[in-house]
Amino acid sequence: MVLTSAISSDASLFSYIEPILKRLGESEIGWAIAEAFAAEKESVASIESLFDWIADGQPTQDFYALFFHSWKATHLKMLAIYGLSCRLQRLALQHESGFERDCLMLASVRNAETSYEDLGLDYEGLTHAELYDQLVANFLPDDQWVRSRWCLTAAKGFQQWIYKNMVVQPELTGLLTNLFSEIYNHAEYSIAQRSFSLRLERQGETSRTQREKALCYINVHVSDATEEEHFQVVLEAIRLYTKATSNNVDKLQALTLFREYLRQIGSILATIERSGSRMASGREITCAHS
Ligand SMILES: [Fe+2]
Ligand SMILES: [Fe+2]
Repeated sequence: MVLTSAISSDASLFSYIEPILKRLGESEIGWAIAEAFAAEKESVASIESLFDWIADGQPTQDFYALFFHSWKATHLKMLAIYGLSCRLQRLALQHESGFERDCLMLASVRNAETSYEDLGLDYEGLTHAELYDQLVANFLPDDQWVRSRWCLTAAKGFQQWIYKNMVVQPELTGLLTNLFSEIYNHAEYSIAQRSFSLRLERQGETSRTQREKALCYINVHVSDATEEEHFQVVLEAIRLYTKATSNNVDKLQALTLFREYLRQIGSILATIERSGSRMASGREITCAHS
């Protein structure tokens, strides 16, 4: 895959990832990420299509309830990050002292860094769960969307898959899952920012300041390269972990994992778009679990 750096206003998901991979240089992980996006074209197209639909389609209140509950299940993985950091610490403590112990402790710290902003450490304790609620409040009048009926079974399944990968599967699988989720989120939040901003504009929100305020949850992930930095700290955690153990990144295993991630997200977002279209035409008034 050829890496270019230009990003247009209707940029694809991968166009936000290319520059980061370019900066990475020759890397097996970088290869696996690029290959996963190239191999999962259909899933990637479904993801991009849903965010286009949010801007250009006719989202109803039922659509927003389905989208926001299910989308939330594909993000906000603080518990899984904490679980993985605990596992790395426990592994470190199995070594009396020395190089391995230090590397694993530091790998745990680096992994945990991906949750600092979700916890609101530098934002007076304002968590991303609270910011998410504030985002939803711009599109829905009440909190009915939190009811479990609005979460697609597949989105719940994805959340459980992420948790198991990070707290049950080998630590390296957990780290690679966290790593991919960070770079994916960077790209997804970037296209979501554009799409929701257009949606608000079409709803009559003419003030740019107001739109930025409404989309604070999305903006904080895009500004200051937040998710890109998270990607870099997990990369360092992987370097430290592989130094301290006899495990190495297998690029084909990484590719399989990254493809599975994109396939699941693609399928979830495609289902949400189909439901959204049916809801807009009055053919579906409540969400069908699938
Ligand atoms: Fe976050
Ligand atoms: Fe992150």
